[in-house]
Amino acid sequence: MNKINSKGLLTGAIIALNVLCNVSFTKAQDVIIPIETKDNALVLQVTDEKLLNMVYFGSKLSEKNEYANIAKIYKFGGSIGTYNNAYTTAGTRNLMEPAIAVTHADGNKSLELKYINHTVTKINDDVSLLSISLKDSVYDFEVTLNYQTYYNEDVTEQWSVIKHHEKKDVVLNKYASANLCIRAGSYWLKHYHGDWVKEMTPEEEQLNHGIKTLDSKLGSRTDLFQPPVFMVSLNKSATEDEGEVMYGNLEWSGNFRIDFEVDPANNLRLIAGINNFAADYNLKAGVEFATPKFVYTLTNKGKGEASRNLQTWARKYKIVDGNGSRLTLLNNWESTYFDFNEEKLAGLLKDTKKLGVDLFLLDDGWFGNKYPRNGDHAGLGDWEANKAKLPHDIAFLTKEAKANDVKFGIWVEPEMVNPKSELYEKHPDWVIKQPQRPEIYMRNQLVLDLSNPKVQDFVFGIVDNLFVKNPDLAYIKWDCNSVIFNAYSAYEKNQSNFYTDYVLGLYKVLDRLRAKYPKVPLMLCSGGGGRVDYGALKYFTEYWPSDNTEPIERVFMQWEYSYFYPAITSSNHVTDWGKQPIKFRVDVAMMGKLGFDVVIGKLKPAELAFCQAAVNTYKQFSEEIWHGDQYRLQDPRENDVASIMYVDPAKTTAIMFNYLVNNRYGAGSNMPIRLKGLNPDKMYTISEVNVFPGTRSTITEATYTGKFLMTIGLNPDVRENRASVLIAVKGN
Ligand code: GLA
Repeated sequence: MNKINSKGLLTGAIIALNVLCNVSFTKAQDVIIPIETKDNALVLQVTDEKLLNMVYFGSKLSEKNEYANIAKIYKFGGSIGTYNNAYTTAGTRNLMEPAIAVTHADGNKSLELKYINHTVTKINDDVSLLSISLKDSVYDFEVTLNYQTYYNEDVTEQWSVIKHHEKKDVVLNKYASANLCIRAGSYWLKHYHGDWVKEMTPEEEQLNHGIKTLDSKLGSRTDLFQPPVFMVSLNKSATEDEGEVMYGNLEWSGNFRIDFEVDPANNLRLIAGINNFAADYNLKAGVEFATPKFVYTLTNKGKGEASRNLQTWARKYKIVDGNGSRLTLLNNWESTYFDFNEEKLAGLLKDTKKLGVDLFLLDDGWFGNKYPRNGDHAGLGDWEANKAKLPHDIAFLTKEAKANDVKFGIWVEPEMVNPKSELYEKHPDWVIKQPQRPEIYMRNQLVLDLSNPKVQDFVFGIVDNLFVKNPDLAYIKWDCNSVIFNAYSAYEKNQSNFYTDYVLGLYKVLDRLRAKYPKVPLMLCSGGGGRVDYGALKYFTEYWPSDNTEPIERVFMQWEYSYFYPAITSSNHVTDWGKQPIKFRVDVAMMGKLGFDVVIGKLKPAELAFCQAAVNTYKQFSEEIWHGDQYRLQDPRENDVASIMYVDPAKTTAIMFNYLVNNRYGAGSNMPIRLKGLNPDKMYTISEVNVFPGTRSTITEATYTGKFLMTIGLNPDVRENRASVLIAVKGN
């Protein structure tokens, strides 16, 4: 049992149920709040002036009373005082970049938050919630800082809840989710940039003094240029298996801002939250504003361990049905684009069965009558089946699917509208656009105003009607192809609430859908990976990483996504992009959630036979890929051969994926690759799987100890005419 001692110090690994700690202390700095997980502690401390500071984030100490000594050793401040406030305010003594800045009802801009008390709620054996209450001493304004810990995963979600009882609205000029202060010799930030088909391009740099900001102002499809994920290595750049590294992800599908400031005292001040650009938020008295959660993990065992922590947490607690199964599928986007009819689709449903996958996914182009969706310039918003293409409605397809013993899924892009649509004609006020300026389009479309409850009902209705009318509908691909230009809402009284309310409106719709359809698989797509974050993934079973399915590109891209998201969420489709043979393309797509978007009728007999067998092999190893631990063995950016493996939690079976990523003469794997994550004492039989019909494996089936495979390794013999090799590792 854990206790809070007389000095307010929390002791014990797992904290007591609903404990309220009042400020009955003699000296404020005696209140030390260590937030412990399996390996780490984040420590907060109250100063004499009752300000809350963050004094530590690192490996747990064995003697908990020593947390009180940390602030004596670490010097956080400089000539103007301390810089390590746990939620830095503006307008009073703190002159550093604030986490929160407000304009009170009377126009005053000062805020100073003082510690009142904290409560700890044990949610289950793994999860605890620490809530710290802070109040301004002049204004009736309060903030609760929440730290929800996932003990075994070493993961914390942090957010704040802001409330006031002033006479009129208070304007939140900045309202971050988290403000961390980290102490190390140097800081190495790895972050990502990109564009359409170039998602998740990494860059790593040493942070120097000043502020480095990762942000987005795109409104929707917000991750197009920069996603809200990053990692920070402490003291030196962490490797896969060594070094101290923290991963972070803001769980928000709108404009975000993450500041990394190396301050004058060499602390790293990290502030993550909704982007306050054009987004002063008007908060009514008595209403609670909860910021999005900022999730982070820290480890001193390198990048691999950090991502396994986050992946396990995501499967267990965040994504929909993380411990469940996924549907393999055939999609028609690249095989038909907008050009199809019932007959063609009936053929594709037969192909779905022939291929052996679970579901046929009908993509864009099935709707619109006055303005048929025969291209991307018209029809978005008019969600009735196009009578020329589908005279018997969607029901024809669900019936055909049943007859072929496969499932049926459909594409929607419910947040959007083409100006050429009946929806636009009927409800121009539902569209985000500046009333006095020309419209600006991305992909010939505009975004609907989800801050408006009527629009929320409409968007919910699109998806709900599909399920109500077609109870056999088994899957939805939810797209979002445009950013928000000309941000203006005809509904909002206060325009500066718009960006934030848009996302809250989207979440309201998704909450309603999930309440009614808790488990139905939903793919999160946004013109590729324009909206991948844990705020959205809470509602989805999987995401579409990119429209770029060129398989070499995919090896690199899936590698980077894998640091933050589990393989079960990565929708990988085999397409005709790239010059590689079908085996290579399938082998790459199998390293996640397998799908196809090729013309089955155009495959040669051996290619079809290979794909059919690969679907079976995939099903045999889906437990390892979907729910296992992932180990990155060889980085494509540093080696000719990229290698990655998945081991089931009991360490009985593993699968190793190897890909040639260099075209130079003689490139390949002439060195063995060390496996990871096996039981050293166990015997494992290795053999090659997914061998193309008519070719022979050069790998001789053999049995080794886990220790041998992890110390000496094995050579998958990857070279020009064996450009991708899958090795099964089966425990005896
Ligand atoms: C987006 C998606 C594609 C496809 C098209 C359809 O670009 O990323 O996969 O669904 O829309 O218009």
